[in-house]
Amino acid sequence: MEFAGKVALVTGCSGIGRAVALRLAAGGAAVMACDIDPEAAAALAEGAAGAARLAARRADVADPAQVADTVAACLAAFGGLDIIVNAAAVHPYGTVEQTDAAGFARCLAVNVGGIHLTAHFGVRHLRARGGGAIVNLASVQGHACQTGVAAYAASKGAIHALTRAMALDHAAANIRVNSVSPGSVRTPMLTLAAHRFDGAAADTEAAFRRFGAAHPLGRIAEPEEVAELVAFLAGPRAGFCTGADYRIDGGLTAGIGVR
Ligand SMILES: NC(=O)c1ccc[n+]([C@@H]2O[C@H](COP(=O)([O-])OP(=O)(O)OC[C@H]3O[C@@H](n4cnc5c(N)ncnc54)[C@H](O)[C@@H]3O)[C@@H](O)[C@H]2O)c1
Repeated sequence: MEFAGKVALVTGCSGIGRAVALRLAAGGAAVMACDIDPEAAAALAEGAAGAARLAARRADVADPAQVADTVAACLAAFGGLDIIVNAAAVHPYGTVEQTDAAGFARCLAVNVGGIHLTAHFGVRHLRARGGGAIVNLASVQGHACQTGVAAYAASKGAIHALTRAMALDHAAANIRVNSVSPGSVRTPMLTLAAHRFDGAAADTEAAFRRFGAAHPLGRIAEPEEVAELVAFLAGPRAGFCTGADYRIDGGLTAGIGVR
């Protein structure tokens, strides 16, 4: 129960965000989660029916008013804020030629702007509690990427840089800020990737096995494995960790692609 008495805001209610919300709640935290998809938010709240202190609401993390309202709802429900985990994201595909200005801007607004907004409205409340932790979901694609992911890769590299900047700015307030860069993880986002490469009738498990084979450990990750790392970074065992990116990629970026 390392999170007993702590309050967490988690963006993204499916995939990794869902696993993080449930992991923090299992550790004793009160959790306010949000997602632009009301069904994802409702499913998380229903799935956590046993956890008295987990609420989920609809919010677009790219909209300042909706993020401000979500932080206010968190304070009203649970009385404070100690931890922010940013897992809401979009994953558009395309080269810069194929990506129009609106699509590029939206990707940056959600994936990077959402982190700015939860911190913009949330940091003052972490400071008021004597400190806290922020964990941003980045990606291996911020370090090295595939073809056809220009906007997404740009957003993930920006998250690495924003994480460092936030860590320096708020260290004196005892607010630790880190990012996590997963390889392939079994979530709805990866299912969309399978459909993109193999068509809508894709054999998702076969695609996941193929994605997994690219990782030296020979498989993709489960969202709960990523949630464990996020929980570590959000909690007291990571008391001296700030300003860093932690890869959780089954060795994917350790090699040079020759097996
Ligand atoms: N799944 C992977 O293989 C993988 C790999 C590396 C990094 N990541 C990163 O991990 C994080 C979580 O991804 P996931 O795999 O769980 O994806 P996911 O698609 O399962 O979950 C992302 C959630 O964000 C929500 N969302 C999208 N736009 C939003 C907005 N404007 N406001 C609020 N919510 C919004 C979606 O509705 C969705 O429920 C993301 O940052 C993603 O880029 C995932």
